[in-house]
Amino acid sequence: MNTLKDRVEKLHIQFRQLLSEARGDASIAQIKAQFLGRKGELTSLLRDLKNLSPAERPEAGEVLNRVKNEMESEIEEALLAARQEKQKKSFEEKIDITLPGRRIPLGKVHPITQVLERATAIFFNLGFEVAEGPEVEFDYYNFEALNIPRDHPARDMQDTFYLSDDILLRTHTSPVQVRVMESKKPPVKIIAPGKVYRCDSDVSHSPMFHQIEGFFVDSGVSFADLKGTLTVFVHQMFGEETALRFRPSFFPFTEPSAEVDIQCVICQGSGCRVCSGTGWIEILGSGLIHPEVFRMVGYDPEEVSGFAFGMGIERIAMLRYGIDDIRLFFENDLRFLRQF
Ligand code: DAH
Repeated sequence: MNTLKDRVEKLHIQFRQLLSEARGDASIAQIKAQFLGRKGELTSLLRDLKNLSPAERPEAGEVLNRVKNEMESEIEEALLAARQEKQKKSFEEKIDITLPGRRIPLGKVHPITQVLERATAIFFNLGFEVAEGPEVEFDYYNFEALNIPRDHPARDMQDTFYLSDDILLRTHTSPVQVRVMESKKPPVKIIAPGKVYRCDSDVSHSPMFHQIEGFFVDSGVSFADLKGTLTVFVHQMFGEETALRFRPSFFPFTEPSAEVDIQCVICQGSGCRVCSGTGWIEILGSGLIHPEVFRMVGYDPEEVSGFAFGMGIERIAMLRYGIDDIRLFFENDLRFLRQF
């Protein structure tokens, strides 16, 4: 009996040795046949059981069956491992893990949006709140209520897209002044950023562009308040060293009116092509709100006063970044946009 048990265990050791060296399904199947097949080595020992005495048989039978079961499950494990190995190999062959990774392109904020956000932040810190108005606007808000009657020559200053007799694409953000003042009592301190439209197109004009309107109405607002506000804006937008000047001008909705020039950012004031040799560049229109505009919205010009200003964002972006063609902003050429 001892001898049978010894033989079985030796066989098992041999079996495990062979199995550990086997590579692939076929060689595992061959080992299975060699030990557990019909003429297999363990099978023939099982067959010899009947030659043992009835007293020896149960213990020997138990040992043989245990080893048989163990061998069978070891075969299953080996087959599973072989299959996984094969899968891993074919995966590694399909994917070349030495290739460099793919770049994920990162988006950027459009330069116009960057300037809009910067300007909005500057005015926000000065206590202005943001308001918006419609891009499709009534003639009344775009012109009439801003003291520009139908036959007024000032209408020629802006080439308007009309949608009907009294509906148009707003030509400036100034109508937001009227809408806000109609619905709110002073004090109001507002900026209104947004898109505006004019029938005009060349290197410095686009049929759609952006403006920021600003206005402040309260009792006792003066031209000095306007100067202070715009000086802070210019210094924060273009740098503390940038000089600015107020130049008398005309707008139907302000009196007095002024345009603001900054020292040319390209030549620092010595005169170049961009500033037409003057050393100065105009960046915005402004003034004290006309009494007629106050009357239109139901404010009493004897009780309140206010300043207003409006500027083109593209123009500011062109100066800030040294861009000489406005159309670059709208062509969406990634080589251009990636630079900001
Ligand atoms: N709305 C004017 C334009 O688009 C700019 C402007 C000038 C706005 C003077 C103002 C202002 O608020 O006071 O040309």
